[in-house]
Amino acid sequence: MKLFTGSAHPELAEKISRYLDHPLTDTVLQRFPDGESFVKIVENIRGHDVFIIQPTCTPANDNLMELLIMIDACQRASASRITAVVPYYGYARQDRKDQPRVPITAKLVANLLTAAGADRILAMDLHSQQIQGFFDIPVDHLYASPVIVKYLRSLGLKNPVMVSPDSGGVKMAYSYSHMMDAGLAIVSKQRKSATDIEMLNIVGDVDGCDCVILDDLTSTAGTLCGAAKMLKDSGARKVVAAVSHSLLGPDGARNIRESEIDELICTDSIPVAPDLGECPLTVLSVAELLGDAILRIHHNQSVSSLFRV
Ligand code: R5P
Repeated sequence: MKLFTGSAHPELAEKISRYLDHPLTDTVLQRFPDGESFVKIVENIRGHDVFIIQPTCTPANDNLMELLIMIDACQRASASRITAVVPYYGYARQDRKDQPRVPITAKLVANLLTAAGADRILAMDLHSQQIQGFFDIPVDHLYASPVIVKYLRSLGLKNPVMVSPDSGGVKMAYSYSHMMDAGLAIVSKQRKSATDIEMLNIVGDVDGCDCVILDDLTSTAGTLCGAAKMLKDSGARKVVAAVSHSLLGPDGARNIRESEIDELICTDSIPVAPDLGECPLTVLSVAELLGDAILRIHHNQSVSSLFRV
């Protein structure tokens, strides 16, 4: 087995490498003066089972391109199998043609990864389940829920209610409500643009309850903050938010700080931006979960046991 990291999130790759007690393979990652990426695998990987760890987070275009180039380099170096480990799969939100003349970038990225030479994909909490079907190669799809539920259980929430901030997240909130033995509520959201949303209504009773808003990701935090306000206006005692992937920048962090959200929980699938100020953010590590999945894939064992909470 050979483990590689691109430049998107070396800290996560190092954590996985420490957990597996398996070194990262020496690689040269450089930029040409005009910005093009250059990759060189320093040691022989002929016939090896290769795992390239690279979330395609911001800068999404650079990280995606670097991942494609790394896959190409490994394929040309005669690796026997190449798994792209993409803890956060960027470009996933454009996963359907919901207006005239728009792309389906989630499918485009799937095509690019396959064309570059990936044999398998290991991803976590994809924006939508159907993205798995955009690939004609095997996709192992992990959930951060075992890590997040363990932490939520330690919070001692009173009358917990799991909340979906939009109709697309109902299945996720429903499965958390089972795992947490909690109630379920749904906020209906209308997105006017990438940065402008309107919260419309709540389905479910949250009066006097500790609410946990669940989402696959947060970016501007508009969705979470809007839902939190509606929950507090409807009598919620406490509001916590939990997302698998935090894309928060300084503006999103300020929105969280100024909102009704007491704590935002996320995972380290993406590096946390350095300039978030006093944002009440708790980062949980998914390195062991990804490490276990890598080991199981390498030994051709089942990965589904990792879904158990
Ligand atoms: C939407 O379908 C996603 O699941 C998230 O709710 C959304 O992308 C979050 O974006 P923001 O934090 O900018 O509201």
